[in-house]
Amino acid sequence: MAVRGLLLYSAFALAFVGIGVLSYDRPTARGSYFVSLPETFDSTSPQQVHISLVGNDKMRISWITEDQTPSTVQYGTSPGKYESSATGNSSSYKYLLYKSGEIHDVVIGPLKPNTVYYYLCGVGSAPEYSFKTPPAQFPINFAVVGDLGQTEWTNSTLQHMAKSNYDMLLLPGDLSYADTVQSLWDSFGRMVEPLASQMPWMVTQGNHEVEKIPIIHSHSFTSYNARWHMPFEESGSGSNLFYSFEVAGVHVIMLGSYTDFDPSSAQYKWLQSDLQKVDRVKTPWLVVLIHAPWYNSNTAHQGERESIDMKAAMEELLYEARVDLVFAGHVHAYERFARVYKEQANNCGPVHITIGDGGNREGLANDYIDPQPKISVFREASFGHGQFEVVNATYARWAWHRNDDNESVMADSVWLTSLASDPT
Ligand SMILES: [Fe+2]
Repeated sequence: MAVRGLLLYSAFALAFVGIGVLSYDRPTARGSYFVSLPETFDSTSPQQVHISLVGNDKMRISWITEDQTPSTVQYGTSPGKYESSATGNSSSYKYLLYKSGEIHDVVIGPLKPNTVYYYLCGVGSAPEYSFKTPPAQFPINFAVVGDLGQTEWTNSTLQHMAKSNYDMLLLPGDLSYADTVQSLWDSFGRMVEPLASQMPWMVTQGNHEVEKIPIIHSHSFTSYNARWHMPFEESGSGSNLFYSFEVAGVHVIMLGSYTDFDPSSAQYKWLQSDLQKVDRVKTPWLVVLIHAPWYNSNTAHQGERESIDMKAAMEELLYEARVDLVFAGHVHAYERFARVYKEQANNCGPVHITIGDGGNREGLANDYIDPQPKISVFREASFGHGQFEVVNATYARWAWHRNDDNESVMADSVWLTSLASDPT
C-alpha cells in the first residue's frame, strides 16, 4: 500500500506558473474500491445504514438485511439505553437477475435538535450506531459533494468530511456509479455507512442513477428510489426525484435533472408552489441542488439538454425567488461563479457552484474553455468537497477543500450575504 501510495503521489506536484498564479498538477483517477460483506455478518445483520432528515424533527433510518427481519429501530440518548422504538416497513426490488436484500425504512422521532442519539437497526441487534440531529437554529455546517463513486479518492473525500464535524451532507447526484451492476450499490452502501449512519445524507439523483436499459429494464431510478428514499411526501412532491426540506433557517430544494422540467411538468409546478411557500424570515437562506450544471466553463458536458433546457425553463423561477446558491455536480471538477442570471453577473442572482469532484472512477475533467469567462471566479479540476457554513441569517462561508496528497486543503473560500438580507 505504501509503495503504491508513493508511486501515485510521486505524480503530484505543485508549480508556480506566471506571477503569483498557482497552477496545480492534478492527480489521476484512482482504482475502484469494492467493499465486501464482512465474514462475521449473517443474513440478518444490518448493513448499508444511512439516515436522512424527515420534517423538522424526525429521521429516516435505512438499512439492508439479506433476509427478512423486523423493521424496528430502538433508540435513545444514552449508549445502550433505548427508551424509544419505531417500526416501519421493508421492500426489495429486482433488476435483471439481481434481487436486492430487504431494504428497511423506519422513521423515528420526534427528536431533540443538536442531540446525539444511539440506535439499533432491529430489535436487540448489533452494532449500536449513533448520530447527531442537526441544530434547530444557526449556525449549521453542511458538507456538499457530488459524483462520489467508490474509489480510493472517494474514500479520501469521505475521510476528510468525517473529520470536520458536519451537521449534514448535501449531494447533487451521481452516488455509486453502479451503472446497472447492482452489487456496486451494495458496496457503495457499505462504503458510506460510517459517515451516512452518523449524519443525514440528503441527496438528489444524477445520470448514473437512471439505470434504464431499453426493453430489458424499462424503469428509471429503480435502485436509487428503493435505496435512497428522500422526504418528498413531506414537501408535497409526488416524486422521490424532487423535494425540499428546511433545517436551521435554510430551505433546501432538490431538483431532478433527469426527469421532466418543462413548464407543464409536475416538477416545474411543484417548484413553483414550493418557492411560493418559502418564508425568508423563517428560512433566510434558499439553496437549490441540481445535477447537470447550468453554468459551466469546463469543456466537459457542454450542450446537454439537462443543462441548457432546464436552465431555460427554470432559471427565472429561481431568480425571482432570490435563490442564494445553486449547487451542481456532473462535471468532475470544482468551479465557482459570481452571482449570475442569464449569463450576466447579477447581484440578485444565485451563486452557481459545481462540486462534482467527489472522487469517482471516471477521473477529472481537466480541460477548460479559454479564456475564463468573467463570471467564473474560481475553477480547478481536483478532487475534494465543499463546506457551506451558515453562520447566521445574513452571513455564510463557502469553502472548497481539495484532496491534496490525502490532506484536506482549503483552496477557495468566500463569504456570502443572503439575498434575504441584501435584496438589492
Ligand atoms: Fe453525472
